[in-house]
Amino acid sequence: MNGRDQAGALRDLVSRRDPETEKYRVGCPTIAVTSGKGGVGKTNVSIFLAKTLAARGEKVLLFDGDLGLANLHILLGVSTPFTLRDYLTGKCSLSDCIVEVEPGIYLLAGSSGNLGLANISPRDLGKLLEKLDGVTEQFDRLIVDGGAGIADSSLALTLSADQVLVVITPDPTSLADAYATMKLLYSKGCKTFYVVINMVDNDEESSAVEEKLALLTERFLGFIPEFAGRLPRNKKLSTMIRQERSLLTAKGLGDFVNRMNHIAQIIQEGQGEPSERFFSRFLTLGKES
Ligand SMILES: Nc1ncnc2c1ncn2[C@@H]1O[C@H](COP(=O)(O)OP(=O)(O)OP(=O)(O)O)[C@@H](O)[C@H]1O
Ligand SMILES: [Mg+2]
Repeated sequence: MNGRDQAGALRDLVSRRDPETEKYRVGCPTIAVTSGKGGVGKTNVSIFLAKTLAARGEKVLLFDGDLGLANLHILLGVSTPFTLRDYLTGKCSLSDCIVEVEPGIYLLAGSSGNLGLANISPRDLGKLLEKLDGVTEQFDRLIVDGGAGIADSSLALTLSADQVLVVITPDPTSLADAYATMKLLYSKGCKTFYVVINMVDNDEESSAVEEKLALLTERFLGFIPEFAGRLPRNKKLSTMIRQERSLLTAKGLGDFVNRMNHIAQIIQEGQGEPSERFFSRFLTLGKES
C-alpha cells in the first residue's frame, strides 16, 4: 500500500468512530499525551500522570504510542517478555504484552527501533485498537504516551482518545508546533484539549505562553484549551534518566508532585472551567496587572 492509500485508509479507520460520542470506543477512559515538538516531556508527564492517578486509586494502563521508537519501558525500568511487535506478528496475545510495573500501574510495551511498527498498516492499527477495547475493560484508565510529530499512527491513536493532553514548554518553537498539532487534531474532530506547560522556570513565563496559545486558538480555531497545569523544571528527572533509574522511584520532587496531583484531578473531573470564563479571567488578570 502506498503512502497516499495508507493515509486514506487511516482516515477511514478514524472515521469509524461512534457517531454519538464521535470516539472510537475503547473499554475505559483514555487520554492521549501528545505534543508538536518532540522532547518536551510527554513520556515524563505520562509516567507521573499514571503514578498520580494510581495513588488516587485508579488502575492505570500505560501504552507506548511511539510505535517505532518505544522507550517507556526504559524510563519505567522494566523489561517485558513480549512487545506489540510479538502481538502483531501473532506470537502472543495482547494481554501477554502487559506487565505490572508497580501496584496500580501497568505497561503495554511497544517495540524499540522497529521501522515496521512505525509504519504500521491501518489494518494492524485497527486490529490493535479493537483488541485494546477488550483489554482495557479491566482498567480504570488508558494513558497513551504519544510519539513525537504527527505520523499517521500517532494521529489515529490521539484521535481515538477521549481526552487529549498537549505538552508544551515555554520554548516558542514548542508553542508554534503545539498550535499546528492542535489545529490538525481539531480539523479531524478533536474538540477538547488539555494543555500542560512543562519545564517551567517561572510562572510569568508560563502565563505568557498560555496567553499566546489561547489567543491563537481563540482567533483561528474558535476555542480556548483547558490549561491543566504547569510543571517546574526539575534537574532530578533528567539525572535519573541518565542514570537509567526508573522515574517511578523519584523522591523529593517537591512542588512537582502537588502540581501533578492538580493535573490528575482536572483530568479525572474531565472538565475545568468553561473556556470562555477562563479567557475572561485571563483578560481581567491582564487588566489588573
Ligand atoms: N519537568 C522536567 N524537568 C526537567 N527535565 C525534564 C522535565 N520533563 C522532561 N524532562 C527531560 O526532558 C527530556 C525529554 O523528556 P521526555 O522523554 O519525557 O520527552 P518526550 O516528549 O516524551 O520526548 P519524545 O518526543 O522523544 O518522545 C528528558 O531528558 C527528561 O528527563
Ligand atoms: Mg516520549
